[in-house]
Amino acid sequence: MLDRHIDVSLGDHSYPLYIGTDCLSEFAPTCRRHNIPDTIVLITDRTVARYHLRELLQSLKRNGFLVTTIVIEPGEARKSLPRANAIYTEMLEKRIPRNSAIIALGGGVIGDLAGFIAATYQRGVELIQMPTTLLAQVDSSIGGKVAVNHPLGKNMIGSFYQPEFVWMDAGYLRTLEGREILCGLGEVVKYGIIRDPELFSLLESKIENAAALENDVLTRIITTCAALKGRIVSEDEKERGVRVILNCGHTVGHGLEAAGHYRVLKHGEAVLLGLAAESLIANKLGLLDGNSCYRILSLVRRLPVQKRLSLLRMSAIVQAMKRDKKRIGAGIRFVLPLKIGAVKVVDNVDIRLARSAIREVLRANHH
Ligand SMILES: NC(=O)c1ccc[n+]([C@@H]2O[C@H](COP(=O)([O-])OP(=O)(O)OC[C@H]3O[C@@H](n4cnc5c(N)ncnc54)[C@H](O)[C@@H]3O)[C@@H](O)[C@H]2O)c1
Ligand SMILES: [Zn+2]
Repeated sequence: MLDRHIDVSLGDHSYPLYIGTDCLSEFAPTCRRHNIPDTIVLITDRTVARYHLRELLQSLKRNGFLVTTIVIEPGEARKSLPRANAIYTEMLEKRIPRNSAIIALGGGVIGDLAGFIAATYQRGVELIQMPTTLLAQVDSSIGGKVAVNHPLGKNMIGSFYQPEFVWMDAGYLRTLEGREILCGLGEVVKYGIIRDPELFSLLESKIENAAALENDVLTRIITTCAALKGRIVSEDEKERGVRVILNCGHTVGHGLEAAGHYRVLKHGEAVLLGLAAESLIANKLGLLDGNSCYRILSLVRRLPVQKRLSLLRMSAIVQAMKRDKKRIGAGIRFVLPLKIGAVKVVDNVDIRLARSAIREVLRANHH
């Protein structure tokens, strides 16, 4: 059932986020209501296709859409220019016209890649985001950032391109692996810290229920986070101001991801540990009180990252943090919590202090 919708207001490119559970039957009629063109290119990955493609195709066809399906292998490695080029070729060979729409059915990899193609194919075709991971539902499908990776850096080639609408069906999450749920919860914890003490308290009382995909908690979380991200993006579409707060936990997070060559930790796991480390940094700097810091560290510890954290070398973590593209000037930039629900950008944090906080968190979360 479709529960509700939230508007992302961006002037001319405003669009709704539809949220529900097992609401596929309402999808194609919604496409009709939005005057989506008849020609659709559905881009997904093999894993998502295995579980969720057939029903979607049937319903689109029943409603008169002409659908070309492109299925790629799962994984971050496919979020690349060569893969995008192969998809352009297929679309051109099939004579997909400019008046068509792309549906991105999948996690953040598919959303970013298919979104990038929608932004560029014949200077832009319509885009519908259909996120199927928790991370994509609470984060990557909202806000219009689309990108592919370059050998010299993640997300280095891309644009801002807003969809016609985003369709979030919590029912899709039932087939997800536990590790992917944990990744999504990393970003969820972040929203609590940066803007929403009530969400944070909900997580403190129900994080295990959320991880077990209990529907009422889960849809509450998805709705709250989607609304929060939608609001932040509305305030600052192109990341020139407030949108930077979404990077809380991400300075250390990116360092941890890169130090493991993106093979040890997934993004959301790294963000989770990054949130703990950055809270500790804030506490050591006297910005965050001890009790709030303790609450954050405790919540993170309840979401165990099942990886050998000892594989991550401190020198590699620090080096990667220094390379981060969001960095300004010589120092490392952090978005640090001041309390649960508020953060602040802090430049030039003493690197020794950061190291010791990271070391402490890696030790405490080594299971
Ligand atoms: N654009 C943005 O604002 C933004 C924000 C955050 C992250 N990202 C990007 O998102 C990507 C990570 O996204 P992700 O965590 O969703 O990873 P992902 O897209 O790789 O999906 C994770 C895995 O789950 C599988 N999967 C997806 N949906 C499933 C389902 N319903 N059932 C079973 N398996 C399913 C996929 O096949 C994949 O193996 C990164 O590339 C990151 O850069 C973008
Ligand atoms: Zn993130």
